[in-house]
Amino acid sequence: MKQRIRIYGDEVLRKTASDVKNIDRNIAKLIKNMRDTMKSAGGIGLAATQVGVLANVFLALDKDRDRIITAINPRLEDINGKEIDVEGCLSFPEIYIYIERASKVVLKALDEQSKEFIIEAKGLLARCIQHEIDHLHGRLIIDYASDAEKEFWKEKLDQLQKK
Ligand code: NI
Repeated sequence: MKQRIRIYGDEVLRKTASDVKNIDRNIAKLIKNMRDTMKSAGGIGLAATQVGVLANVFLALDKDRDRIITAINPRLEDINGKEIDVEGCLSFPEIYIYIERASKVVLKALDEQSKEFIIEAKGLLARCIQHEIDHLHGRLIIDYASDAEKEFWKEKLDQLQKK
């Protein structure tokens, strides 16, 4: 079932999510709903906080392998390099911010069967993973914006916050 995506201004986006203790039916349902929500919104990543659930769970599209990664209780084991690129977010429709991120990351997480996995990612997937982990800590793309960018997007940001 498609969930409502929380938009900038919604307090829940600033909250810190907690680790999942039991990967049970509720988590399976959450993941299924998140997949439906992400697909329907045409996103390449989605964190549980964006649908109002404070659990350490995110999805990320792995285009190279044509799959969606489900990460439960994710940790970055290693980061390397730096790369600046423009980023969007389903919680910030039509807003794009330049963000410097690590160009390579090593992600450790649990899958839906409670099995630990490790993924080495670079490029867009590495960026997406860092973006989603930010969400789980209540960190948003706007936190990286320069004063000039904040000024540039001011009108749109004000509109989002009023909704
Ligand atoms: Ni986002």
